[in-house]
Amino acid sequence: MKETLEVLARGERLQPQDFQSLIEEENPQFWAETFAKARERAQAVFGRSIYTRGLIEFTNFCRQNCLYCGIRAGNPQADRYRLTQQEILECCQEGYGLGFRTFVLQGGEDPYFSDERIVQIVRAIKAAYPDCAVTLSIGEKPMESYRLFREAGADRYLLRHETADSEHFAKLHPPGQRLESRMACLESLKELGYQVGTGFMVGSPGQQSRHLAQDLAFIQRFRPQMVGIGPFIPHKDTPFAGEKAGTLQMTLRLIALLRLMLPDALIPATTALGTIAEDGREQGILAGANVVMPNLSPMRVRKKYALYDNKICTGEESAQCRQCLAARMGSIGYELTVDRGDYHPWKGKEHV
Ligand code: 5AD
Ligand code: FES
Repeated sequence: MKETLEVLARGERLQPQDFQSLIEEENPQFWAETFAKARERAQAVFGRSIYTRGLIEFTNFCRQNCLYCGIRAGNPQADRYRLTQQEILECCQEGYGLGFRTFVLQGGEDPYFSDERIVQIVRAIKAAYPDCAVTLSIGEKPMESYRLFREAGADRYLLRHETADSEHFAKLHPPGQRLESRMACLESLKELGYQVGTGFMVGSPGQQSRHLAQDLAFIQRFRPQMVGIGPFIPHKDTPFAGEKAGTLQMTLRLIALLRLMLPDALIPATTALGTIAEDGREQGILAGANVVMPNLSPMRVRKKYALYDNKICTGEESAQCRQCLAARMGSIGYELTVDRGDYHPWKGKEHV
């Protein structure tokens, strides 16, 4: 297994079968060494600096109906809200003061936020904070919409592919949603010059290690600048309410493999990881992640953006969250940095 890992770390292509054998390895010693290698690789590229992104969850209306998601259209229990442009700008103002230089606008696929409205919001943020990056995470749109957002100044786009296996995709989504259209969106985003993030849930219902192997093979081919992964966590008002959550251990394995495969990628230790284990985000960093994404949404809406149950940080102010994360990162020898945290190709030199 060590040889396979070395092939991966040299940047060579692995077959899905090889990825699968790696994922299925159960020797704890192997994984302890792999986490250490991934962490060393991250430190060679980024030092001990952790990038932060301020997450603004600006609408939980969604026209999609993903079976796993708490804000799916088919959940009448969801208490829906939208932020105004003014409120979004206030989140940015607070975030800027706290040291955030990237704002992530994340929301459901909400028709109220037409292309024109998104363009206006992106323009307003870029005008007020020209030194900040704007990341959009608002789902599948026509290429023309992506183009307008890009022209308005959006720098990055997050769109997880969720699973690279079309049969598995069909178990997680209603028939109207298709893996091909998700993949086509990712290609368009790349073509338009966005820094693109994709990713998947670990331990989603029906997921087997061969599916995760396909996810890694897809990511190795697609080479996104960012990869977001986190454990699946059931939400009580969804069809997957009774399903088991993904595990910390499997998520850490995948973070480490992703880091060895893509040394310069921006990989967050996600809120979902912090939700399944108290020190999940710290462990994520120690397995090779280099980004955290604390919440900047107004307090009154925090609990409403519930993709899954028991989400952390819904009772804390933005400043508290930033401080808490700074302390958590400090406890493992890392520090939060005030930086846009753009993607830069790594040329193989050590961090200085
Ligand atoms: N558990 C974990 N992650 C989830 N997401 C959506 N629902 C859940 C859940 N129940 C993730 C999806 C989506 C991202 C915004 O949140 O991967 O792309
Ligand atoms: Fe939000 Fe710790 S990061 S409370």
